[in-house]
Amino acid sequence: MTEVSSVDLNSKIPNNVGLSDDPKLRRALEKWLPEYLEWWNDMGPSDFYDKPVFLRTAVSVTSDGWAHYDYVKLPEYRWGIFLAPPKGPLTIKCGDDAGKPAWTEIPGEHRNALRRIIVTQADTEPASVEQQRMLGHMAPSLYDLRNLFQVNVEEGRHLWAMVYLLHKYFGRDGRDEAEELLQRRSGDPDKPRILGAFNQPCDHWLSFYAFTMFTDRDGKYQLAALSESGFAPLALSTQFMLTEEAHHLFVGETGLDRIIRRSAELEREDPNGDVRAQGGIDFDLIQRTINYWYSYSLDLFGGEISNNASDFFASGLKGRYREDKFEDHKAIAGTYRLPVVENGRLVEKDVPLRHAMNEVLRDAYVADCERALRKWNRTLEQMGSSTRLYLPSRRFHRHQGIYAGHYFDPQGNLITEEEFERNRHKWLLTPADNDYLLSIMKPVYEPGKFANWIAPPKRGIEGKPIDFEYVKMHD
Ligand SMILES: [Fe+2]
Ligand SMILES: [Fe+2]
Repeated sequence: MTEVSSVDLNSKIPNNVGLSDDPKLRRALEKWLPEYLEWWNDMGPSDFYDKPVFLRTAVSVTSDGWAHYDYVKLPEYRWGIFLAPPKGPLTIKCGDDAGKPAWTEIPGEHRNALRRIIVTQADTEPASVEQQRMLGHMAPSLYDLRNLFQVNVEEGRHLWAMVYLLHKYFGRDGRDEAEELLQRRSGDPDKPRILGAFNQPCDHWLSFYAFTMFTDRDGKYQLAALSESGFAPLALSTQFMLTEEAHHLFVGETGLDRIIRRSAELEREDPNGDVRAQGGIDFDLIQRTINYWYSYSLDLFGGEISNNASDFFASGLKGRYREDKFEDHKAIAGTYRLPVVENGRLVEKDVPLRHAMNEVLRDAYVADCERALRKWNRTLEQMGSSTRLYLPSRRFHRHQGIYAGHYFDPQGNLITEEEFERNRHKWLLTPADNDYLLSIMKPVYEPGKFANWIAPPKRGIEGKPIDFEYVKMHD
């Protein structure tokens, strides 16, 4: 049984993993701490370090009230290591050994696979902080600025959660991996982050909301699949990360909803229905942004037909989204039908279910994204706009899996490369789009005021009013 001890908030590294009883591990992590802070200073939010921010900090792991809200200056935020308390005896949730007790140490035969899974997850956390580094300088409000910083510090904590596992369970290799996590850089051609979406520029707030909506949502599904892992410490770490992740998804989904609402207002106000003429973000541009980040985020689930996915499931390392909801946890017999490209056309093919586990997880993600699209389209309807937004086909603009190397239109029809390139500017974010967005995104730092291109939120944070001073700019 994995020991989850009481929360120690006074230690240099707040934790509920009993660091004070493990001096060797504590020393190793205390050595990593200044290196982490150096990375945060170099690559975390640019400026604002002397401004108190109304942040939540994890102080316990109980479902009610794990978070404490107060003004904190970013350099004083205390990153901790927290595992969710186990709900009853932990078992392996899926695969050949489903139902057997979970592992509290790493089985030798799964060591490499687990290390790869943990490092890949870990790498996304600092990457997103790097991608969002400059956004504070063009925040549409103090409310949004605070949400940005909340997301940033929690991605930092997620890195801590994964680095703890690397240090504790992987010896020298784990320590080396932890170092490298601070050395790779998002978008750096020489030492890029591991996954594609985490090397894409996120240089304005439309991309920030789309990123937290679509890319953080991939994170939710990956973490949920890992929270079914037979390796108990990984399952319990990711369970607690999910409680924080929910806020990131909220920021993205409601951020886009607020832009859509405002654009519909501006469309109504303009005599020609021209949102841009009113300094807003037109719906075609919003659609191109959805297409861009959704397609990069779909790539993060990996290949549609995958030996790795099959092995991870079979050995109990990674389950499906809410594995409990499935009846058969071995999935030996089933098949999964999906369209594949053969001889220049799309044909349906059945693949063994275990090999399609990435696609099964992607299905859960797509359904969740479709739900958000329905919500945004309801907003458009309520606002009296005739526009409707949509998700492109999951085959559109892919760089990983069986559709990569082929060309599809947003409806999923196979097209030529030439046709794709001819329409690229209609379907995906362009440099001109980014220039326009940067031209309208001027910072608004007055409590209760919002940039012209976004509607205020429905309510504030933690019961505070919308015009609360979420970041103290003049302290
Ligand atoms: Fe995260
Ligand atoms: Fe996140």
